[in-house]
Amino acid sequence: MDQLTASSPCNVVIFGGNGDLAIRKLLPALYNLDRTGYLGDNTRVIGASRTDLGHDGYLDLVKQGLDQFVDRAQWDEAVWERFSKRLTYVAVNAREPETFKNLAAELDQDFSCQDTVYYLSTAPDFFGEISRNLNEAGLVNSSSRVVLEKPIGKSLASSKVINDGVSEIFAENNIYRIDHYLGKETVQNLLAVRFANALFEPVWTNAHIDNVQITVAETVGVEGRWGYYDDSGALRDMIQNHLLQLLCLVAMGVPVSLDADAVRAEKLKVLKSLQTMSLDKVRRNTVRAQYAAGNVGGKAVPGYKEEEGGKPNSQTETFVAIRADIHNWRWRGVPFYLRTGKRLPARYSEIVIQFKDVPHSIFPEGSNLASNKLVIRLQPEESIQLNMMNKLPGLGEGMQVTPVTLNLTMPDHIADSRVPEAYERLILDVIRGNSTLFVHRDEVEAAWVWADAILDGWKQSTVAPHSYPAGSWGPQAAFELVARDGRSWQESN
Ligand code: BG6
Repeated sequence: MDQLTASSPCNVVIFGGNGDLAIRKLLPALYNLDRTGYLGDNTRVIGASRTDLGHDGYLDLVKQGLDQFVDRAQWDEAVWERFSKRLTYVAVNAREPETFKNLAAELDQDFSCQDTVYYLSTAPDFFGEISRNLNEAGLVNSSSRVVLEKPIGKSLASSKVINDGVSEIFAENNIYRIDHYLGKETVQNLLAVRFANALFEPVWTNAHIDNVQITVAETVGVEGRWGYYDDSGALRDMIQNHLLQLLCLVAMGVPVSLDADAVRAEKLKVLKSLQTMSLDKVRRNTVRAQYAAGNVGGKAVPGYKEEEGGKPNSQTETFVAIRADIHNWRWRGVPFYLRTGKRLPARYSEIVIQFKDVPHSIFPEGSNLASNKLVIRLQPEESIQLNMMNKLPGLGEGMQVTPVTLNLTMPDHIADSRVPEAYERLILDVIRGNSTLFVHRDEVEAAWVWADAILDGWKQSTVAPHSYPAGSWGPQAAFELVARDGRSWQESN
């Protein structure tokens, strides 16, 4: 367990405070921060949205959400008593500046004596307007922070409009762009494994690594978000942000420190080295597909177009597989295979660093020699495993070798029995003013340059997305993408 220090008092204002993300993730995370003693005494949580819910109405809504989304083992009535006293609600309409006076009245004295965090859990089109209205209401000072939820735009051009709007009011060091994958415990552990051990860095290059695979597989479909999702698709929803951020943490060089600027500088170099794909490369190195009706976990499920709110002519991709290439000294020639999809047979997220084969085998012909692999599992369980070869014990003739797994997972006696949720870590970091795990504007833009080329390529293509039955590992083309290079996807186990 790390050292517990309650944060200094802060006002946390959540725009979209009654929305899905706030109820499912943000408020449970704040409850858990309170339960574990990380919220300072006078920290307040203010839900804001345009619906006039009233204080009691909001409390009821939050309580119902916590009942549903906080693990029963973490429930404590006394904590709820305390947490509910921190909660208030104000009706604010992002488009109506005069309603911001309600928020100003609520913050009143606290505003000048403690930091304020504005968490914008709304559609990104509102980010600029909310920032301007906050400023006009006198609610922004040099220590006010703003948190932006993804997606930041749908392209480089639209992300610039959003970022420009927010930057008119907030300085870049007070803008916290969330990518919740960076808050996952194992993702941070990847930094520790890479940079707190002398072992890996010398072999972390194209001389020793054959390929890297990043898979984020989901069993869920679009979960009532068809409208949003259809406008987005898997490339914008997952690859442009979550998977590229994971790629950055695997591929980046050693930062000079763990400072936000130092870490971001290294990530940015990776994003800028990603090869922007020509039309021909898009055709060769990307596969997009949409799920048809099928069976997931023994249950029949409809196809994407037949989901609630679905439209029959949608061509939006729910699955993507990509071969990405990083053009720099360290990674030239090492493919990074990225894969994500909805309605796949299992939910898991994993990074596999596949090392090269030994240059020459001295073991008997037919030996079961497998190349080394570092497997970083983000979810559902968290683990880091190194696959190595060992001698098979025994007196048999000739030396028999066999693969064994070295488990680098945190032993129970060191680990806190409960791994904090990504949003707990990230919200606490915003309150503490630590932006290492947040995404700089330059990163968002570099990621869009790469993603835009793929989206353009798809737009110009006359070939429709592939189809895959729900409950399968995607279309055949995704297997061929990797098989063509003489490789295969790491099986989930
Ligand atoms: C979100 C996407 O950012 O991440 C969702 O919008 C996706 O479509 C979710 O389901 C996955 O997050 P996690 O933490 O459950 O892997």
